[in-house]
Amino acid sequence: MCGIVGIIGQAPVSERLLEALKRLEYRGYDSAGIATVGGDGALTRRRAEGKLGNLSARLEAEPLAGNIGIGHTRWATHGGPTETNAHPHMTSRVAVVQNGIIENFKALREELAADGYEPQSETDTEVVPLLVTRELARGATPQKAVETVLAKLNGAFALALIFSGEQSLMIAACRGAPIAVGHGDTETYLGSDAMALAPFTNRVTFLEDGDWAVLEGSKISLFDRANQPVKRAVITTQASGLLADKGNHRHFMLKEIHEQPETVGHTLAHYVDLASETVRLRETLPIDFADMPRLTISACGTAYYAGLVAKYWFERYARLPVDVDVASEFRYREPPMEKGGMALFISQSGETADTLAALRYCAGAGQHIASLLNVTESTIGRESDVVFPTLCGAEIGVASTKAFTSQLTALAALAVAAGKARGTISAGEEAELVRALAGLPGLMHDALRAEKQTEDIARQMARASDVLYLGRGQMFPLALEGALKLKEISYIHAEGYAAGELKHGPIALIEEDLPVIVVAPSDDLMEKTLSNMQEVAARGGSIVLITDEEGANQAGDSAAEVITVPTVHNMLAPIVCALPVQLLAYHTAVHMGTDVDQPRNLAKSVTVE
Ligand code: G6P
Repeated sequence: MCGIVGIIGQAPVSERLLEALKRLEYRGYDSAGIATVGGDGALTRRRAEGKLGNLSARLEAEPLAGNIGIGHTRWATHGGPTETNAHPHMTSRVAVVQNGIIENFKALREELAADGYEPQSETDTEVVPLLVTRELARGATPQKAVETVLAKLNGAFALALIFSGEQSLMIAACRGAPIAVGHGDTETYLGSDAMALAPFTNRVTFLEDGDWAVLEGSKISLFDRANQPVKRAVITTQASGLLADKGNHRHFMLKEIHEQPETVGHTLAHYVDLASETVRLRETLPIDFADMPRLTISACGTAYYAGLVAKYWFERYARLPVDVDVASEFRYREPPMEKGGMALFISQSGETADTLAALRYCAGAGQHIASLLNVTESTIGRESDVVFPTLCGAEIGVASTKAFTSQLTALAALAVAAGKARGTISAGEEAELVRALAGLPGLMHDALRAEKQTEDIARQMARASDVLYLGRGQMFPLALEGALKLKEISYIHAEGYAAGELKHGPIALIEEDLPVIVVAPSDDLMEKTLSNMQEVAARGGSIVLITDEEGANQAGDSAAEVITVPTVHNMLAPIVCALPVQLLAYHTAVHMGTDVDQPRNLAKSVTVE
């Protein structure tokens, strides 16, 4: 999704803006740009299609002077990813970058056209500099002009503006998309997240929804939606100042896949006490699990699949009824909700627009709000009654991997805590499950040994135009996640199905050599899945079975390939099996030669609906 940075500096800013934009690359983008106010007071910009390397080359050829500037990475929504549509959008008076969508831009364009203001681009954003320019031409100060224009804009967005002739003035606004002000000693910064600001400062103020900020040098004035002065806390953020690097790995995704034994270990350390073999929640729930009539989970993408696995766990181990929805459906379905239930939102970024909207719906419907987040200093985090962290460090690859297994680890611990509170898990069973959780990092490390084999299988998969993924019970969401991973990064069409549904449609797709990935560790459902495998094999499908040793023995020779993962407590099999599923997608994408870390059209943090 789009990223915003800004600096009011004591020295030229364009190189530092570019550096800050690099830290937002992980969000996904398809063009970028920078604007500054030069020593002569004039606004100048450089923009380029594609990756930041193109913008960097443009800046090298035509450097930008100026100690104040704004920068932007754009993920196209209105208008293609061209240079003309890239931000900043500007007139001779004002330059603007925006993250989000101005929903009423068409009506505003018509209004502007009537006054002779014509846009140069196809974007929704460009109405903002035009509207501000009209106010300035009418004699308003920059601050008054922005105040007037903000009142006219509908939608969810964040904005940053600089003005010609103003060497130390920047204005920012937060309307449903995140923006943070960074406090330096003599400089002031703006960023879409604390990561972007980390090289400059760790003292940050997150604007709240509806807030806007007038930054004059290092003087910061904040106003709320009603234009009343407000104070917001300055927090010391934990975001790392180090630029994330790939280490010895070819891609961030591969690095993040390999980090999982360690990241799951971090997550575990937060949720379980190994000495007493108990789950220990450091966070206080807004309502006890024992009194909870229902748990409603909403999330998007991979986080949604983590929620689907958790449904099996909460229902089976804690006998707690769970509803799980993709947030974009949930929010518009307007489901009736009994007051006093708990709603749980799972999100790596904590900024996903649909998940946030679902949260607000649930808060309005009298639910206690819990979230499970990797970026706890995020909008969803700030609007939750309780935040459970995943603690897996910054995830840079657009396709989520380590956040998924850390989400599952935390959810498993929460399900055990719920079972304990509801009397469905005894102390002995809790100890057994905690021992199993404690064994996860070691078993995940062993599971990564299948990498060479997945690389070989991926060579075959890279020739396929379709791939099916099958799983039963708690492995069904993993089949969905496997198909999503493959689609996201290799662009091969893939579908995940509940194995029992095979006969109700997808079996028609099976033909000679169609790869069918079956995720089925040995459990009480394995027998049934084995029959489904026979049905696939009989029709020429080429089965890759992901299972444990016992499952491999049971499966005999019906699978063309068997990837054997270490045997683990049945509840935790989705966490261990996730690794070969991720590796298969990764190596297939590498064979295809795609941009693994920043796949086309995708964004890491989806802050628009
Ligand atoms: C995007 C990302 C996915 C992620 C989903 C939800 O689609 O590409 O990897 O699962 O958003 O993001 P969240 O930050 O809410 O987990």
